[in-house]
Amino acid sequence: MRKFVVANWKMNMDLSSALKWLEEVEANLPDAVDTAVCAPYVYLLPMVEKAERIPIGAQNLAFAKSGAYTGEVAGYMLRDIGVKLVIIGHSERRRHFNETDEIIKLKLERAIENSLDIILCVGETLEQRRAGETLQVVKSQLSNALREFRNWERLTIAYEPVWAIGTGVPCEPEDAIEVINEIRQYVKDMGGQNIRVLYGGSIKPDNFEQFLKFGADGGLVGGASLSAESFSKLLKIASEYC
Ligand code: PGA
Repeated sequence: MRKFVVANWKMNMDLSSALKWLEEVEANLPDAVDTAVCAPYVYLLPMVEKAERIPIGAQNLAFAKSGAYTGEVAGYMLRDIGVKLVIIGHSERRRHFNETDEIIKLKLERAIENSLDIILCVGETLEQRRAGETLQVVKSQLSNALREFRNWERLTIAYEPVWAIGTGVPCEPEDAIEVINEIRQYVKDMGGQNIRVLYGGSIKPDNFEQFLKFGADGGLVGGASLSAESFSKLLKIASEYC
């Protein structure tokens, strides 16, 4: 399977840096790897207009179809401007915006209705890992979100241990791969074939290779995706594993 490396800018960048990033990353884009960049809402349209090869994604979408939801952005609006994918269930949204598995399930439905590809994030907190609950937590997130899900061809899963996100301390690759393999089997048992499972959490050019070597299908990258240079390095590393 082709590796997939996705930039998640979170609430960072400004418009001119965003467009410059696109130009620089596209200039060095390896053919052998799939990629995408998930940008803040307000930069999506100019990025779609500028991008030649990199699919542009959103970091969120509304759980409702349309209507009286001040401040929200509907799935159809993303599709309307040419957005191709969306991150759903990121732990920062679960934590700061009280996103429950139920809301996440609705968001998956909105994404599918609007032909958006999905990166579904799952992962445990440090307390849950210490309590030995990692697999239980991840499987429950998956089963709640993916109940009655059918559009497997649109799905990628990102295993992101919450304690490894933005901390500079990634999960040990052996531990990450154990969970990734469990996720693969679990999703397969639910009916999903050939679903890519990415690792996310403090990926950097100097540690990414280990995750690929142990079997991750790619990465969801926050901090190290903000610089075009470091993101291009990650793409190059992944292209050597395709
Ligand atoms: P990080 O973020 O690479 O900055 O740890 C990853 C993510 O939250 O997707």
